[in-house]
Amino acid sequence: MATATATTTLCRNYVNGRWVESKTAKIVERRNPADTDDVVARIPLSTREEMKEAIVSAKAAYPGWRATTGPARGKILFKAAHIMEQEKEQLARLLTREEGKALKDSLGEVQRSINITEFMAGEGRRLDGVTLPSELPKNFTYTLRVPLGVVGAITPWNFPVAIPVWKIAPALVCGNTVVFKPATLTPLTAMKVVGIFERAGLPAGVLNLVMGSGRDTGDELVQNPHVHALSFTGSNEVGSQLYASGALGMKKCQCEMGGKNPVVILADADLQLAMESTLSGAFASTGQRCTATSRVVIEEEIADQFVAALVERAKKYVVGDGLEPETEMGPSVDENQMNTVLRYIEIGKKEAKLLCGGERLGGPRYEKGWFVAPTVFDHVAIDSKIAQEEIFGPVLSIIRVKSYEEALHAANSVRFGLTSSIYTTDSNKVFDFIDRIETGITHVNSPTVGGEAHVPFGGTKATGIGPREVGHEALDFYSEIKVVYIDYTGRKRESNIY
Ligand code: UN1
Repeated sequence: MATATATTTLCRNYVNGRWVESKTAKIVERRNPADTDDVVARIPLSTREEMKEAIVSAKAAYPGWRATTGPARGKILFKAAHIMEQEKEQLARLLTREEGKALKDSLGEVQRSINITEFMAGEGRRLDGVTLPSELPKNFTYTLRVPLGVVGAITPWNFPVAIPVWKIAPALVCGNTVVFKPATLTPLTAMKVVGIFERAGLPAGVLNLVMGSGRDTGDELVQNPHVHALSFTGSNEVGSQLYASGALGMKKCQCEMGGKNPVVILADADLQLAMESTLSGAFASTGQRCTATSRVVIEEEIADQFVAALVERAKKYVVGDGLEPETEMGPSVDENQMNTVLRYIEIGKKEAKLLCGGERLGGPRYEKGWFVAPTVFDHVAIDSKIAQEEIFGPVLSIIRVKSYEEALHAANSVRFGLTSSIYTTDSNKVFDFIDRIETGITHVNSPTVGGEAHVPFGGTKATGIGPREVGHEALDFYSEIKVVYIDYTGRKRESNIY
């Protein structure tokens, strides 16, 4: 295995408008998960002190940025969207090399990030409030949206462009300043995203980037009294701790965490359509997606036919280096993640019937990466581990049921509630499902994954806490309401409002 050389990029932090080398002695390497000979970057695990400096810089920049008008802030975001568009291909390639997903998924992610930035740029002209009639004559009552102050954004490796963008763009357009701590597995995409906002003309200190571990830099961001809000995407373990610490510091918190998303397939469904979208929902992005399809809940009478078609296609699913054009599915993000997936597969072999996959891929094409075969388990019980826990890998569980009611019960029998999908042609069942499914997002006759740039995103139950991300609703997290009463009688009133 090659080691990092002096030519491998040593990632830098971005603090107060400058790219600075961390003073830490702790440096870790990032290798391409499809080819571990390829050292992508060296990442500093920055110190608490460095995180503090970034927070001080964001705090100092806040009054000026807050005083900049919404449309002017939006203009900078439009410029960022434009640069992202010009550099789309380059950014997508970097994403694939660093994270592993197939290039077409990376291109999709970058396009979504462009759309989100563009949408949020427009929000600069729509930072609205409401006017309300007063109980009193000659009294003007209205609300204003005001920023929160310094916002901390803590993001995962699986959408290393889109998730940072969908936190940073609305935070900025509302007038907040930001300290961004990306996952250490995807440092170069984080630098590239920040570099784009820098080149778009953000003033120094408005957006800061610090690389580091959750234990030091992450914890400092969560504990620091000058940080007013935290937006986090990642695991439930970290999210619940962050939420508890944030509460002690009276910080506004938003956490987006796990999923265990079902596709319900009823006997009258278009089976081909259901099969194709289950396949892409489960295996695209290597299942490393909180919206990934991880459970199929299917009526018994069509199950054999569906499963046979699905397995035939899953066996042909093209796994490989995401940069190769025919690749449909890349590797796990790293050895740890691959081992977690393989552990779940071993559990699944005891709990259910393995139909395909079930192992790490070997041979010349795969020996330098962390590749797991697309895996399908049948006859999975609702309460088994593989049907309950988020695996974050290409593992799909088939749960057979006897009726729609049983299907709905199975679909809801998990602690998560991000997305779901139903395949049927019965419109009564469609609307009943929409009423009763316990997820923040639901799809009808389409895969569980994805989301549009102007549409809110987020889940219920153990998946999420705090206002929705993305779309106009994102502003509800990144701003708060100021209420104004203006009395224009010009004299003391007989009565006042209570
Ligand atoms: C998507 O599936 O389109 O971490 C986005 C995640 C989610 C984002 C998913 N927060 O996978």
